[in-house]
Amino acid sequence: MSVIKVAILGFGTVGEGFYRTIQSHAEELTAVLGKKVEVAAILIKNKQKERDINKDVLVTTEFTDILNLPQLDVVVEAIVDKDPTYIFLKKAIERGCHIITANKEMFAHYGQELLELAKEHHVSVGYEATVAGGIPVIQTLRQLLNVNRVQQVQGILNGTSNFILTEMREKKLSFAQALRAAQENGFAEADPTNDVEGFDAFYKAMILSRLAFGEEPNWHAVERLGITSITRELIDTAERLGLRFKHIASISKSSHQLKVSVKPVLVGNEHPLYHVEGVQNAVNISSDIVGQITLQGPGAGMYPTASAVIEDLVYVCQNRPESQGLLSTSETNTAISDLEQKEENWLLAGLFNNAIDPSIKLIEHVEDGTWIAKGKKGEIEALSTQNNELIFFPIIGEYEKEQISARVAL
Ligand SMILES: NC(=O)c1ccc[n+]([C@@H]2O[C@H](COP(=O)([O-])OP(=O)(O)OC[C@H]3O[C@@H](n4cnc5c(N)ncnc54)[C@H](OP(=O)(O)O)[C@@H]3O)[C@@H](O)[C@H]2O)c1
Repeated sequence: MSVIKVAILGFGTVGEGFYRTIQSHAEELTAVLGKKVEVAAILIKNKQKERDINKDVLVTTEFTDILNLPQLDVVVEAIVDKDPTYIFLKKAIERGCHIITANKEMFAHYGQELLELAKEHHVSVGYEATVAGGIPVIQTLRQLLNVNRVQQVQGILNGTSNFILTEMREKKLSFAQALRAAQENGFAEADPTNDVEGFDAFYKAMILSRLAFGEEPNWHAVERLGITSITRELIDTAERLGLRFKHIASISKSSHQLKVSVKPVLVGNEHPLYHVEGVQNAVNISSDIVGQITLQGPGAGMYPTASAVIEDLVYVCQNRPESQGLLSTSETNTAISDLEQKEENWLLAGLFNNAIDPSIKLIEHVEDGTWIAKGKKGEIEALSTQNNELIFFPIIGEYEKEQISARVAL
């Protein structure tokens, strides 16, 4: 029986999980691919670390050793930084290998170049694990894109932020206490900036934007906010209103205009992401034929991520052409200004002076300095420049004044 030879770059959580899954699911792989899958080599950084790897696998710190293997069909990348990873994958494609990556930062930066190069060399690219860990969102979008027109993708794409928000609400913790709990549980790095400031979700949103709409916004024009401004008091207020803070990446396109944001928003219990808690991720896709689909599941972890990578292995070995996920001719699109957008509902906190632009309607006094208001984003931003203490969050989905009045009165 012929053999598919695989090299794994990185032997941390993802690399090792994938290696073990190839062993535990060898029978299924052989059945579906009609060939045996063998790990030929593993690239690591630190030679001193003890690792449980079969003796017949080449373990090396030199990428050239991998490129020089007599047979190499697939290169799976699970390293942390964008450099030198991109160069490794470029060379792998040039050698004629299919590639698979779990590295969202690298793929957000260099995905377009890699997909174009792969198309040129007639090889495939798997990147399921770059977005929402074990949730098959990339494959779902690939499948939907055949005929459906996707209108909006909204997702909770960072498990660490979602865990922190859940802990703050359920256990009445401060942001700092919930962050510490995330670090103690291994859900947050010692430096949590990427997660809590929204960079991780931003990279994933860029990957989804390219795939769902064939476009990505000008990165600098995207509103990217993390969760650090959310206090326990704000969470309590939201809870009394029947709302929850969720950190949501939203990508939508209407009238040929792309709109992307990554920020905390308030959702009511009718919203599909309201009940997504802890380290779970979820993605809601709206498209014209099917309507709405919500996928929920583990956004990280050894085996959920291995599941995404191993399914990608099957995908690339079937060698699908790389036509999806490539930017269309317009390349990048300036994210349209929300000033032109319709009115939204907002939670305003720290508003003690009610002398405001009459176009903003204060529709509910929640408590001292806290209001529900209706207005355009530009108007709310202008208000915040006059009120240093003001912070504001959009309420997405349907908002019923009567319902909220009833809850406030309780
Ligand atoms: N962890 C998850 O649940 C998860 C989920 C989805 C996506 N991802 C993404 O998957 C990638 C890997 O994450 P991870 O959690 O597996 O990381 P990790 O546990 O820190 O492992 C990283 C691995 O990469 C190796 N490495 C780092 N720099 C290298 C270099 N220059 N050359 C060769 N090897 C190098 C390390 O080698 P040593 O072992 O020698 O130090 C280590 O084995 C990241 O891009 C991450 O964002 C992770």
